[in-house]
Amino acid sequence: MYTSYDNSSLVKIVTLLKSHKSEYLSGQDISEPLMLSRAAVWKHIKKLQSLGYKIDSRPKLGYRLTKTTELLLPWEISDGLETNLFGKRIYYFDTINSTQNFAIELASRPQENGTVVIAQKQTQGRGRLSRKWTSPSGGIWMSVILRPEFEISSSTLFPIISSLALALTIEKVLKIKPQIKWPNDLTINDKKVAGILVDASVESGKIDYLILGVGINFKINVSEVEKAIKNTGNYYGVATLANKNNKTNPAQLVQAFLLELERLYNLFLDGNSEYIIKQWTKRSSTIGKTVSVTSSAGPIHGRAVKIDKDGALVILDEGKSQRVLVGDVS
Ligand code: BTN
Repeated sequence: MYTSYDNSSLVKIVTLLKSHKSEYLSGQDISEPLMLSRAAVWKHIKKLQSLGYKIDSRPKLGYRLTKTTELLLPWEISDGLETNLFGKRIYYFDTINSTQNFAIELASRPQENGTVVIAQKQTQGRGRLSRKWTSPSGGIWMSVILRPEFEISSSTLFPIISSLALALTIEKVLKIKPQIKWPNDLTINDKKVAGILVDASVESGKIDYLILGVGINFKINVSEVEKAIKNTGNYYGVATLANKNNKTNPAQLVQAFLLELERLYNLFLDGNSEYIIKQWTKRSSTIGKTVSVTSSAGPIHGRAVKIDKDGALVILDEGKSQRVLVGDVS
């Protein structure tokens, strides 16, 4: 595990190499200011290369960083992150059962408000409605801990805020326009590219914490994931956001998402839910369509007319209107 408050020699060497990208630094250039032995520098360089940094190493010249890593290492996300709260602490795992579960373990600590847990792979990723979430490397699997001050009744809008934040981020960073399938799936050409899961803990009628789980099929092998989930509930096709040749660094997408999430979250706290619902509706592939919704009360069929102030889907069937807060739509 790595964290954003790691200040190890490894991180110091990356910082030094990044600030001298156009020149080679000799072993001595690195070892002296960081008070390390030459052997230690060499060992750290090897480690950095194994973490995906491309470091050119030349006899007599030294070391030069030619390409940064695509791993979502905490210091890569922190470097240039413009938020005030979200992502100030980051925990990174190469492999974990579920970032959501780890975030739940952390969440009782007040200092973890805004903390992000991120992993390269999950072995037991969780999806909505107790489904499995297939999480191979190439995706962005993360959870954000929030300890909000608002009432429980407001929390139902939180998934709506989050899916809108992700849609806006993808528009901005990747220049593609995903749609939002109620409640909060992101799709491209009607195939799923991202999903959102919110776990909440409530104590004595107050929210103790919310954990926002975000799964983004950033650069995944589509057929591998399709094979794994084809015969599971709510399957309607999987897509990847970026293809193999796309140069966008995933850390940039994560930074932009945390900033957008914080912006919308603050707008929501300032009472601007209407704006959020309007923006969400503009991107929705559900509103205005005739849909079937599987809800806990059984199947509902009708025209999806809007989401209300709580984020519930309002369905109109022969003049009768029904609200659904949890379910799947097809
Ligand atoms: C969905 O069913 O659409 C929601 C999927 C949410 C998956 C994410 S990946 C990161 C976090 N950790 C988990 O175990 N699940 C969420």
